[in-house]
Amino acid sequence: MIREFHRTDLRDRNSFGIAQRAERLVEFETAEELRALFAAGVPDRWAVLSGGNNILFTRDYEGLLVTPVRREIRPVGDDGEEVRIRVDAGVEWDDLVEWAVERDLWGIENLSLIPGKAGAAPVQNIGAYGCEAKDAIRRVEMFCVETGTMLTLDAAHCGFGYRESIFKHELRGRVIITAIEIALHRTPSPRLGYGDVEREVEARGGVTLRNIREAICAIRRAKLPDPTVTGNAGSFFKNPVVDRDTAERLRVEYPDLPVYPVAGHPDRAKLAAGWLIDRAGMKGYREGRVGVHERQALVLVNLGGATGSEVIGFARKVQERVREQFGIAIDTEVNIW
Ligand code: EPU
Repeated sequence: MIREFHRTDLRDRNSFGIAQRAERLVEFETAEELRALFAAGVPDRWAVLSGGNNILFTRDYEGLLVTPVRREIRPVGDDGEEVRIRVDAGVEWDDLVEWAVERDLWGIENLSLIPGKAGAAPVQNIGAYGCEAKDAIRRVEMFCVETGTMLTLDAAHCGFGYRESIFKHELRGRVIITAIEIALHRTPSPRLGYGDVEREVEARGGVTLRNIREAICAIRRAKLPDPTVTGNAGSFFKNPVVDRDTAERLRVEYPDLPVYPVAGHPDRAKLAAGWLIDRAGMKGYREGRVGVHERQALVLVNLGGATGSEVIGFARKVQERVREQFGIAIDTEVNIW
């Protein structure tokens, strides 16, 4: 069923807790509803607002926002080892992870507690602790606004990369994701190589799916602010990908600089933006109603009542400081509207 809101306050619909308004917002469940919504003509300005966990509003949205709310998780295939699951766009991502762990299905446990909905997972190819959504996603179902038809795209055509996909580029503003299909596995495939994961899993009694989920949740809770308490959108910046020579040059000056390989690009390296901001002396730094989170420098926090413009102004200062000290540009990960 469609629910429609006018001049609605978006404060509770974005994890930064920014109080801007949308001219019109429609919650939808089915593709048929979308077809009916757009049949009368495509509005000049429209966009998908999913969980609002990766968005910074800097002004009122003068247009139509559409929000998926259907929440079905349905197995669609099972060969005894691999289980295919169709997940509506409106399912909370972490509810899906819990659903999988309860059924002893491996594949997305390292993505525990990532805020947001399943339909948004492919857009920025959410990732954490050595795993990315693209590892599990097999197909993405979407409504094409231009043609009024449903399309299904195989993962191979989704242009997945580090926090990247076709949905941020060629298909941006053209489709509305309605569901994803993921593949999970009965054969255990623990991925414990990232940071403290192995230690936290051992501390819980060893490698089980449940222990991995709990370890990841504990690590996230210790480092990342709870958006229901402190407004934030997770990592505000992306980890910069630079050429290997730049990374090696910085390593000479800063031997403890974290440098990660970039799959498929041996001449490139990924640096930890959180480390750079931290070393630039900005961890915990505050100005007005905005701050750098004191336990993870990649996260900017709304200390209460901040506007989107204040957050952007603050972010520019952080970027400037990192550039001054390390000569590295860090880009925003959060979508700025
Ligand atoms: N670091 C610092 N100081 C800080 C933060 C980090 O020195 O304040 C160092 C850490 O000690 C570590 C390195 O930087 O050596 C990397 O830190 P961390 O493991 O916390 O991960 P990250 O690279 O900062 C990325 C993702 C997170 C994800 C974690 C874990 C991006 C932009 N962020 O952060 O994703 O949870 O890895 O996999 O890739 C998000 O996207 O919103 C998000 C939270």
